[in-house]
Amino acid sequence: MRWQRRHVLSTEDWSRDEIELVLEQATAMLEVLARPIRRTPALRGRTVVLFFAEASTRTRMSFELAAKSLSADTSIITASGSSVEKGETLYDTVRTLQALGAEIIVLRHSASGAPYFVAERVSASVINAGDGWHAHPTQGLLDALTLRGALGDLDGKRVAIVGDILHSRVARSDVHTLVPLGARVVLCGPPTLVPSAWRGGSVPDGVAYEPDVDRALADADAVIALRLQRERQEAGLLPSLREYRSTWGITEERAARLRPGVPILHPGPMNEGVEIDASVAHGPRSLVERQVTNGVAVRMALLYLLATAGAGTEQAGDAAASPASPAEVPA
Ligand code: NCD
Repeated sequence: MRWQRRHVLSTEDWSRDEIELVLEQATAMLEVLARPIRRTPALRGRTVVLFFAEASTRTRMSFELAAKSLSADTSIITASGSSVEKGETLYDTVRTLQALGAEIIVLRHSASGAPYFVAERVSASVINAGDGWHAHPTQGLLDALTLRGALGDLDGKRVAIVGDILHSRVARSDVHTLVPLGARVVLCGPPTLVPSAWRGGSVPDGVAYEPDVDRALADADAVIALRLQRERQEAGLLPSLREYRSTWGITEERAARLRPGVPILHPGPMNEGVEIDASVAHGPRSLVERQVTNGVAVRMALLYLLATAGAGTEQAGDAAASPASPAEVPA
């Protein structure tokens, strides 16, 4: 299997082999990150621009660290403080970034589909770092890497995703990454926060909807808690935060009833005491910090694969890259 993609927009149309290839490359990158000097010259002289038009702490820093660990030249642009504030369009901004030499553009945007719009209009490679409610492919991949690390082979494993499914690009990308790896995903959340088609039983293969959180957790092999997007509360979709915690939260009591060794993940940022208790978020089952470390490795893997497959060239996508073993990633 060789890497052939020019962009990373969503994992929805990826094969299992492609997902495996990225996880294999990310595992090699974890070894690079464990070296005393966490840096390789693999992308020296290449330009990666992070364009974050929506708030982010960990994803932005993770991409920045990933690009720097590969020795790429890296610039960060956020909506505030850039010409976006002056009304510059997305199209004009990315054309400017490209004219300034961006070979890979990492884009976070509040509009679903924005990375597709950009990918069609620039010769640079585009990585989606989260677009509206739609997709967050690097989060799906880092969750897969984290679950693999904890559970081994995901074939037949039950992963419960609990919370605000409706607004969650993380839930969608987790489904599109975990199901091809053989996992069974159980979605659980308030009926108002689950897409009506999924609630009605029209779920993708490998996915089930379970309205009762305790049943969803009873035979779970892993649990992913989602951030309650509190900005939606005004829309009347939610009861009070207290009621939400008691009905849907991964509380200390619920965590204690999970089978031994069942890990708990959360993409962050967390509303501790709402969708997850602080003692659970920082307790022995929590893989939240491991997710953050794995996130850097997954992003390094993708930047490396895109760059070595000819990112930023007119021929990009015609070339193909194979994953490099840790020994092949230059020290
Ligand atoms: C998520 C996001 O922004 O989609 N966070 C992240 O990238 N780690 C989840 C969220 O905001 O709820």
